Amino acid sequence: MKPYRSLGAATTVAAVAAMTLAAVTASADPVMDDELVINEELELMTDTPAPEHLGGVLGETIYSGWRFRDTETRAMQKDDFDNPMFLFVDAGLAAWDTPEGAANQSCADCHNSIEDSMKGVRAAMPRVNADGELWSLENYVNDCRETRMEAEPWGWNSQEMKNMTAAIGLQSRGMPVEVQIDGEAAPFWEKGKEMYYTRFGQLEMSCANCHEDNFGNYIRSDHLSQGQVNGFPLYRLKDQGAVSMHQRFVGCVRDTRGETFAPGSQEFRELELYVASRGMGLPVETPAVRH
Ligand code: HEC
Ligand code: HEC
Repeated sequence: MKPYRSLGAATTVAAVAAMTLAAVTASADPVMDDELVINEELELMTDTPAPEHLGGVLGETIYSGWRFRDTETRAMQKDDFDNPMFLFVDAGLAAWDTPEGAANQSCADCHNSIEDSMKGVRAAMPRVNADGELWSLENYVNDCRETRMEAEPWGWNSQEMKNMTAAIGLQSRGMPVEVQIDGEAAPFWEKGKEMYYTRFGQLEMSCANCHEDNFGNYIRSDHLSQGQVNGFPLYRLKDQGAVSMHQRFVGCVRDTRGETFAPGSQEFRELELYVASRGMGLPVETPAVRH
């Protein structure tokens, strides 16, 4: 695949790959003695039987990324007051009520309460739209801004967009991820799957090499998870800020020293659909906290 060609030949592929594989060490299981109970009332399952379409590649159980993080990071997600993402959720809720654009309308003018109108929306994204295109949540938000509010679209990774997708995602918290993968979604899903198993970059590694073959192992100081997307957008401690799903994909592809696709690209939306389908049955955790 062209965008995955390596960036140069300064280091030989074999040498780099050997270095990286040597860095994958010491198997450690997901955390088994902790439960994700939010605000002492909302219990979120962090494992569930693997969806059938995976054919056993992840074993019998899929795990939330939360189960691979350290005690402090896990604790931050247990209380909405400690979860820094809630500053952004609040900003998203304020934007929901704010008229903008030439039509001078707010999201609330048409959708009324975000709690009722957006419940379950995150759990089913990305989704094929009325024109047969695969759209992520960000596409739906910007479509309303452009065509209905006559306002400027938000950048895919802009703070405004992450505020809004966090506020919308929260309305599905606790609901199982359930994306359509058959019917009109099937061709997109197939492409996403192909991409997931394609080796790229100088390291010649696929998503599966890390998140399927090596979850539970450490790569340098990082405890590798199954690379689930049920918590996005989420707070990343390392970046001290909100991170969108496609932003995370960019980071992972860059780690292989490959050239990446753009956030919002067709390729990343297809990859998003496939990765989301690997987490079907896990509850939406948005907004999660990760390392
Ligand atoms: C060289 C190993 C490596 C490769 C290849 C890789 N990742 Fe990752 N990925 C990581 C590490 C390390 C983390 C941070 C720890 C974790 O959550 O697994 C991570 C985190 C993630 C997360 C966040 C999980 C969460 O719970 O928030 C997602 C999603 C993800 N990766 C998806 C992908 C996708 C999709 C690909 C293929 C395009 C990919 N990764 C390729 C190493 C890799
Ligand atoms: C002028 C009315 C109007 C405004 C203003 C508006 N929307 Fe919409 N929105 C709609 C309509 C109509 C649909 C399509 C509903 C359907 O097909 O069920 C829609 C669909 C959506 C969807 C997809 C929901 C789903 O269930 O598939 C999202 C997400 C969304 N809007 C978010 C927003 C956000 C965020 C804002 C403010 C930034 C906004 N909308 C502003 C009318 C509006």
